[in-house]
Amino acid sequence: MFWPLTHMVAPKEQALDCVACHAPEGRLSTLTDFYLPGRDRNTWVDLLGWLAVGGAAVGTMGHLALRLAFKRKRERKQSEGGAK
Ligand code: HEC
Repeated sequence: MFWPLTHMVAPKEQALDCVACHAPEGRLSTLTDFYLPGRDRNTWVDLLGWLAVGGAAVGTMGHLALRLAFKRKRERKQSEGGAK
């Protein structure tokens, strides 16, 4: 009798890359009725995500700009002997 120690799991050289399936022309390209990341996409969800990324970047930069602007104003006032 023959008992394979590896439970018939293929050797690592034969392992699939993620993009073997997660690609538009991957090995699961003809299957339907499910969402496969990397193969399928939703334009609106993508847009919403990028708007969130852009909004975060613009918000952070705006906040930084305002802080720098008001810091300079505060320092100028202090050097003139004015109140904080
Ligand atoms: C043999 C094909 C195949 C390979 C290789 C593969 N995937 Fe997937 N993957 C799928 C399928 C099919 C689904 C969708 C499963 C579902 O929707 O139930 C999926 C779903 C996912 C998801 C979405 C989460 C989920 O549970 O649905 C992620 C993240 C993911 N795969 C990452 C990876 C990564 C990282 C690798 C490589 C290490 C990889 N996949 C390799 C077929 C594959």
